[in-house]
Amino acid sequence: MRVAWITDPHLNHADLKAWEHFVASLRQESVDAMLITGDISEGPDVAFQLDRLASAFIGPIYFVLGNHDFYQSSVQAARRMAVDLCRKRANLTYLTDSFPVKMAPQVAIVGEDGWGDATVGDFERSPVVLADFQFIADFQSLMPDERKRKLQRFGQEAADRLQPKLVAAFKQSKVVAVATHVPPFREACWYQGRTTDDLWAPFFVCGQIGKVLEDSAAAFPNHEIVVFCGHTHHRGVARLRDNLTVVTGDAMYGKPQITGLLEISSSSCRWTWG
Ligand SMILES: [Fe+2]
Ligand SMILES: [Fe+2]
Repeated sequence: MRVAWITDPHLNHADLKAWEHFVASLRQESVDAMLITGDISEGPDVAFQLDRLASAFIGPIYFVLGNHDFYQSSVQAARRMAVDLCRKRANLTYLTDSFPVKMAPQVAIVGEDGWGDATVGDFERSPVVLADFQFIADFQSLMPDERKRKLQRFGQEAADRLQPKLVAAFKQSKVVAVATHVPPFREACWYQGRTTDDLWAPFFVCGQIGKVLEDSAAAFPNHEIVVFCGHTHHRGVARLRDNLTVVTGDAMYGKPQITGLLEISSSSCRWTWG
């Protein structure tokens, strides 16, 4: 089975030519499924773009949402929209709201949106003010210390959802691919070939998901975890343990493209850059 992995397509920035080029590349690579790791679009356009993709591509489309997908909306409303759409479109699966998906006898995919959760780096000293705080309803009226608490709560909720899914996946599969938007470790948070500093890390690393992944990899040493994520728009691979690798994909506004190709066999998930 061949899966096209796409991160951060930001389809609201793609003109018709870029969209057609993107869809043609999916056909050219004759992939069986798609895996999208967030920042699909923004606000109400997320549903439009997912619906359009589900029409253009007949195979299953597995996805999580990224921070931009919550813009002009709230976290709860955007997730509700994704859940509702998946009920109407049989080939769409919102992994954050889904049990592990069995891809092959020993390979499963699980997913969780994730957040830059203010648990890594130095939130207090950081001058970074994300557009998220302006454009996502949950943050709009919050002071900086309240933002920190909210980011940490979102990260905690994400970790709490992911942990039992990982355990369930390990019961059935040797290899688990994890789709998430935000890099779960500082070591996986790439920017121009280097990893992030203390000032950006609070917003670009989901430390609480990282902890769940690390604990799970330690508890199941004979299993393998491969994480696919994005958010930084810069690529890199981080090997955290023998059985835990994080692949962070690159992206460019206005040019949606295949980030990587996953080759799934009965007991392995190999990947290459797209
Ligand atoms: Fe993005
Ligand atoms: Fe993002």
